[in-house]
Amino acid sequence: MLKQEIEDGTRSFADPAFRADVIDGLTRRPRAIPARWFYDHRGSELFEAITELPEYYPTRTETALLRSVAGEISERVGPGRAMVEFGSGSSTKTPIVLQALDPSAYVPIDISGDFLRESSRALCERFPGLPVFPVEADFLKPIALPHQVHTAPKLGFFPGSTIGNMIPLSSTDLLRAMRASLGEGAMLLIGMDRIKDVGVLERAYDDAAGVTAQFNLNLLERINRELDGTIPIDAFRHRAIWNDDRARIEMHLEAVRDVVFTVEGRPFEMSAGETIHTENSHKYGRRDARLLLRSGGWTPIAEWTDPDDQFALYLAEAQPPRPAP
Ligand code: AVI
Repeated sequence: MLKQEIEDGTRSFADPAFRADVIDGLTRRPRAIPARWFYDHRGSELFEAITELPEYYPTRTETALLRSVAGEISERVGPGRAMVEFGSGSSTKTPIVLQALDPSAYVPIDISGDFLRESSRALCERFPGLPVFPVEADFLKPIALPHQVHTAPKLGFFPGSTIGNMIPLSSTDLLRAMRASLGEGAMLLIGMDRIKDVGVLERAYDDAAGVTAQFNLNLLERINRELDGTIPIDAFRHRAIWNDDRARIEMHLEAVRDVVFTVEGRPFEMSAGETIHTENSHKYGRRDARLLLRSGGWTPIAEWTDPDDQFALYLAEAQPPRPAP
């Protein structure tokens, strides 16, 4: 999703940030490569497939929840806000909220211009009267919103429990950046996945059909494709492990035998059993979620969950600059 590659026949040139993250990630201990590099074209397709797996409950649970509480959300949010979505928007969830809220404008923010243009076009067709102002930017930092929405109060929308893919230091930074981007009087509607039975969690991230394994292993294939890597894919297996201390599912790529390979000519070796840490997916209890929001400058004012308390939606208000006392 983030690469800016130039196709040259069979060889593609990688984003320098991808190269730096891979070389650094394979060099340090424990080995770790940021999860954002999963999302090349193939990785994005595999993620779409994950959201439809029987074991992967978050997408369908959040979508059903949004459908059932959209009216209540609309009452709490009120009319006339500009809705700012962090990410290009999902073809299912975004229309549910737009339909219910009837906002004054829609501002999707994404670092990938292609995804942004594609999803904005589809939304303009579906909501012909809605002003849409796409912003191509990295929403991890505060963003200047389009001048057309400067005077409107804002509603931020960040579904999918994507916040869970960040460690607490980064998730609080992100929430603060959102607050700075959206301004005073803003509201935020955010999805957060709950802590639950470990078996349910581990199966959601290690499905029987092996789609999540392919998603994880695709990172190695991407390294081979874009960074001239020689990684033998069959020397690795997908692992999804619940880390109870940190309340998160960790995805790793574990070497099943001793292996040597090169990336852009640099040699690396791993012993059987060693792993590359590729993703964290944090889960939140009721108080954890509220505390995270407050730490990020947001006061939770409403919370909705599905009947089995698997997934939660929070509506929060931007804290005033100096909360008392
Ligand atoms: C995008 N993100 C919220 C997903 C998650 O559940 O953490 C990514 C994912 N990784 C494996 N399966 C899904």
